Amino acid sequence: MDAIRNLIERSSSGHLDAPIPNREELDKIYQAALRAPDHKGLKPSRFIEVSGEGLDKLSNIFVNFAKKNLTEADKGTIEKYRKMPYRAPLIIILISCYTADRGVPEIEQMMSTACSAQSILLALNALEYSGMWRTGKLSFNQSISSLLGLRNNETVIGYIYVGTNIGPKKQKDLPNSSDFVEIWT
Ligand SMILES: Cc1cc2nc3c(=O)[nH]c(=O)nc-3n(C[C@H](O)[C@H](O)[C@H](O)COP(=O)(O)O)c2cc1C
Repeated sequence: MDAIRNLIERSSSGHLDAPIPNREELDKIYQAALRAPDHKGLKPSRFIEVSGEGLDKLSNIFVNFAKKNLTEADKGTIEKYRKMPYRAPLIIILISCYTADRGVPEIEQMMSTACSAQSILLALNALEYSGMWRTGKLSFNQSISSLLGLRNNETVIGYIYVGTNIGPKKQKDLPNSSDFVEIWT
């Protein structure tokens, strides 16, 4: 696919099903993700790829998270947490790993992981798959990090749900760039 068209026309989908990218395609997707801009080359990003029975494991983790963190009033939504991972056949968990002693602020390292996330979405689109970046309560907190077995310096910045779009293709109007760009000459 033409690179600029891919950038302009990429869209997310919440209606995802098989097929998913094969191992070779996934390797390309990770290569794209790992080319994100990275101040001082700290390599701040890693990923957990979840599919098959891994989705059951993730579902149990989400339920444990909900039991620990939801208020009494929200406890009715535990079933919702149980079902969440099954919204796609594959999930890529986005993890930002903070290196504290190299003078690069944590926000910059997280932004690098965010760039990796966008590259994953773009690579999926280019390969004619689709994805959706989701966060909700299951990101940016120590509780989900420890349930996932992450190290103390690691933060979940979201989950990319991956598959093939089975919903309607979104028709998005292109924004008028001049509404968002100030030009100084
Ligand atoms: C950091 C981040 C977190 C997001 N979290 C959610 C989320 O939890 N749930 C959701 O429905 N959309 C979430 N979105 C939005 C979708 O990923 C998607 O961008 C949005 O539906 C617009 O679709 P588009 O990418 O096709 O423009 C998030 C986006 C970003 C950048």
